[in-house]
Amino acid sequence: MSVQTNVKYDVKDPALAAEGLRRIEWADRQMPVLRLIRERFEREKPFTGIRMGACLHVTTETANLVRALKAGGAEVALCASNPLSTQDDVAAALATEHGISTFAITGEDNVTYYKHLNAVLDTRPQLTMDDGADLVSALHKDRNDLADQVIGSTEETTTGVIRLTAMAKAKVLKFPVIAVNEANTKHMFDNRYGTGQSTLDGVIRATNVLLAGKTLVVLGYGWCGKGVAMRAKGMGANVVVCEVDPLRGLEAVMDGFRVLPIAQAAKEGEIFISVTGNINAIDVKHILAMPEGALIANSGHFNVEINLKGLQEVAGEGRRVREFVDEYLLPSGKRVYVLGEGRLINLAAAEGHPAVVMDMSFANQALSAEYVVKNHAKLKKQVYMVPKHIDDEIARLKLKAMGVKIDTLTPRQRKYLNSWEEGTE
Ligand code: ADE
Repeated sequence: MSVQTNVKYDVKDPALAAEGLRRIEWADRQMPVLRLIRERFEREKPFTGIRMGACLHVTTETANLVRALKAGGAEVALCASNPLSTQDDVAAALATEHGISTFAITGEDNVTYYKHLNAVLDTRPQLTMDDGADLVSALHKDRNDLADQVIGSTEETTTGVIRLTAMAKAKVLKFPVIAVNEANTKHMFDNRYGTGQSTLDGVIRATNVLLAGKTLVVLGYGWCGKGVAMRAKGMGANVVVCEVDPLRGLEAVMDGFRVLPIAQAAKEGEIFISVTGNINAIDVKHILAMPEGALIANSGHFNVEINLKGLQEVAGEGRRVREFVDEYLLPSGKRVYVLGEGRLINLAAAEGHPAVVMDMSFANQALSAEYVVKNHAKLKKQVYMVPKHIDDEIARLKLKAMGVKIDTLTPRQRKYLNSWEEGTE
């Protein structure tokens, strides 16, 4: 393994590296598309001499992404995009075995989180990769001097794309960004099947709750909400959906779910999961209305969806009753339980999305990074979609890896689709 010479790191325990290596290899077995990309990068070296800064969840899947970038010749520095999502064995393996400057410790406080983010920025990245836009935001707010050398960035998640689009609209964005989240091979799979399964995995690992027969309220019916609702239904929960968007509310009804305003759902639910991307989706007045023993979790990017500060004002600090479970005693005498400190439960209490789905998300990241390197001179300071040929190629490779064959259009069919003359016969 080629080891970068100037590697710096701050990880929990370098001795965890051997376990991290084994788990990274396990994930790699489920990531055939990214592996093919890594093998091509190894041959073609598209990132030779490029310094990359990445702020991502430090997981086995992310490890395989940064391996691919490094194989392509990049010098990579990595920090966590959430204080609770780091897998310490992976961080150790990346730092000590893979030659990646890594700054991430699970449970790090806010000061350390931003110290780590700044350690990545200290490497003066020319290309950045974000999950939630914290790196780009810090580059614009606190480290403005470094922004001019950045040729572009990629963004993994819905929340980050919303932030970056607002920056572009306000004309403050200093370099082009590729919105990886918007690729079909990303959000239709990662957000739906990844969040759907891993969120319930997180809730179950945290609490050992039985979902069958429970009333489970899903806040938000975007791709993530659809996935959570679908999987919870499959496990026998009575799913209620809360929405603010009429089209999505309607879609949830037609998909067979009960749709209620949160004020009503709060009284009926036993498990609450927010995936809205917005602040205070579960507010104090809703928590006060919940039944005894309600479980409250968030799987949206930031820990703002549950008004935890407001809850602590009425119920005090809370008591840890089990790893990832804090009990709050309400003035009424009822108890409610907040999971994973309101941070994304799938990465806090479980392992995030399975590798098989991150394969496509991170194939998009790797190919979008290559696209930025090749095309940055032509790109404006805007948020761009992942080019369609990249999205299509990832779907094609994934199907191939799964051994699934599909049909091709006949010349007659192709002609028919391109003509306007043919109609009723
Ligand atoms: N986001 C959700 N799941 C993830 C995973 N397993 N690795 C990295 N980022 C993620």
